This record gives sequence, structure tokens and C-alpha cells, in this order.
Amino acid sequence: MQPKMGKRCGSTTIAAGMNSRPSDRIANYVADLPLDPGLRVLEIGCGPGVAAREVARRIGDGKVVAIDRSAKAIGIATQSSATEIEAGRLELRTVAIEHFALEDGEEPFDLAFAMRVGALDGRHPAAGKLAMVRLKAALKPDGLLFIDDREPIKGREIRT
Ligand SMILES: C[S@@+](CC[C@H](N)C(=O)[O-])C[C@H]1O[C@@H](n2cnc3c(N)ncnc32)[C@H](O)[C@@H]1O
Repeated sequence: MQPKMGKRCGSTTIAAGMNSRPSDRIANYVADLPLDPGLRVLEIGCGPGVAAREVARRIGDGKVVAIDRSAKAIGIATQSSATEIEAGRLELRTVAIEHFALEDGEEPFDLAFAMRVGALDGRHPAAGKLAMVRLKAALKPDGLLFIDDREPIKGREIRT
């Protein structure tokens, strides 16, 4: 059998059809998020969408919007997320967080999270500043931003 095409993502290879089961890293991260039914959640840098789908399973009639600046990553996430997308629990958008904005009339988010995304974890400070402006505008004042394993930041306390 031919191996499926993959794309490098940091130290991970994103491969269509090979990403339906979360790694322990992702499963543990999602298990630690304070998720409740009805929440609106934003994932930044979703890659193949593994964490976004795990979150979608835990928020009942809530919704996950998962973004990635890579159209290829969003394409792979879309292929693997038909059930969640059709149920209206997951929406995928190709956009960098530095350019992200709520759509007209869209409700702000209760929770946002990012794992291993350079614009947010300090590797790219200039992009990080732009990202924080966008996140402050996209989160509710009491909404929580989780970046890797750091303490969460409240929307109103995000420094821009
Ligand atoms: C190392 S991968 C991590 C994927 C996933 N979060 C995980 O932990 O497995 C980083 C992902 O973030 C995306 N990314 C990097 N910078 C971004 C930005 N400024 N805005 C949105 N997505 C970004 C990349 O395209 C890539 O898919």
C-alpha cells in the first residue's frame, strides 16, 4: 500500500487519515481545559484538527472555530472532520491569528487555546504582539486564553 502524503508540522507529520486518534500530549492538554457544554472555543494553529475535534466532543451544543494559517493544514483537518463540521460543532478557517477577526455579528469566544504555535509561545515576538491584539478583540472579557502549559490569561487582562 502507498504511504499517505504527509506535511511537516514542527516535529509532527500531518497525514490525512492518520490523525483521528489524539496523542497523549493532545488528549492530556484537552482534558485539562475547563470545557463545558455550550462554550464557544477558538483554537489557533489547529494543524490537522485533532485537538479541535476532541474539544468539539466535549462542549455539547457549543462550537469550536479552529484556525490555521496553512491552507494545506486546514484541508487535511477538513477531510478528517466531516462529522463535526456537518453537526455544526466545528468550523475551520484558513487565517493567521495576526489577521483573525470575528465575523459580522459573531459572538466572542469563551476560551481560546494554542499548542506549539510560534506567534503565541514567544518564538516570534512581533507576530505575538499582533496576535494578542486580535485575541483580546475575539475573547469575552472573562474569556480564557491558554497557551501551551502556561497559566491562562483572561481576555480583559491581555496586554497589547
Ligand atoms: C507545530 S504545529 C502544531 C499543531 C497543533 N497545534 C499541535 O499541537 O499538534 C503549528 C501549527 O500552527 C500553525 N501556525 C503557525 N503560526 C500560525 C499563525 N500565526 N496563525 C495561525 N496558525 C499558525 C502552523 O501552520 C501549524 O499548522
